[in-house]
Amino acid sequence: MQNEIDPVERARHLRLTEPSPWISRFAGLPAKGSDVLDVAAGGGRHSRVFLDQGHRVTAIDKNTTALVERFSATALSIVEFDMEAGIPLFDAASPLSGRDYDVIVVVNYLYRPLFPELLKALRPGGILLYETFALGNEVYAKPRNPDHLLKSGELLGLVSQKMQVVAYEHGLLENADIPGVKQRLCAVNDLQLSDRPDHDPSAHSIRVRPLTGS
Ligand SMILES: C[S@@+](CC[C@H](N)C(=O)[O-])C[C@H]1O[C@@H](n2cnc3c(N)ncnc32)[C@H](O)[C@@H]1O
Repeated sequence: MQNEIDPVERARHLRLTEPSPWISRFAGLPAKGSDVLDVAAGGGRHSRVFLDQGHRVTAIDKNTTALVERFSATALSIVEFDMEAGIPLFDAASPLSGRDYDVIVVVNYLYRPLFPELLKALRPGGILLYETFALGNEVYAKPRNPDHLLKSGELLGLVSQKMQVVAYEHGLLENADIPGVKQRLCAVNDLQLSDRPDHDPSAHSIRVRPLTGS
């Protein structure tokens, strides 16, 4: 089923201008001048975090009205595209055809068929930052549709044996921007990049920036 956000829900999300603390926490990990993709960017609160650090950011959403209002076209590359319309995101027919990224950020959006495409579009050493609602959230608020709620361990399973998991959480966040049951992941595509004799990848900082809020 499509991620049909009703107008009230979308307005609630667009009112959020502060980034998720999870994204802020790891926003210092990427190397200078990285290429960042903000998937289902909404009003661009996470695009802003990476732009402010001098990265090149592409924000994709099927509704780009808020992005166009809030960002100049020279600062942010804004792509209007329905990611659930049957055209693979990096296919020849997509505006992101053949593109790849150092950082992919997804917050409060879930469309499972995108998972393999997103992983393929991450460059070696690239970082996946993913945070969205999980099963159990239906007791508290929208989203309630299980198509839009992660299962226990689902993000871990997505990257298992493929990427280094730097941080992962799953649980009830009562004092978050949008309270509910959330799952969040920071993983790095560097399992193949080790120069250690035991082939384990190098460690990354897990407190890149001080956590604020939840
Ligand atoms: C809950 S908002 C999250 C926005 C942003 N990531 C944030 O955290 O502030 C979900 C976003 O997904 C977008 N979206 C929903 N279905 C989509 C689709 N099929 N293709 C592209 N974007 C979609 C909506 O337009 C909305 O902006």
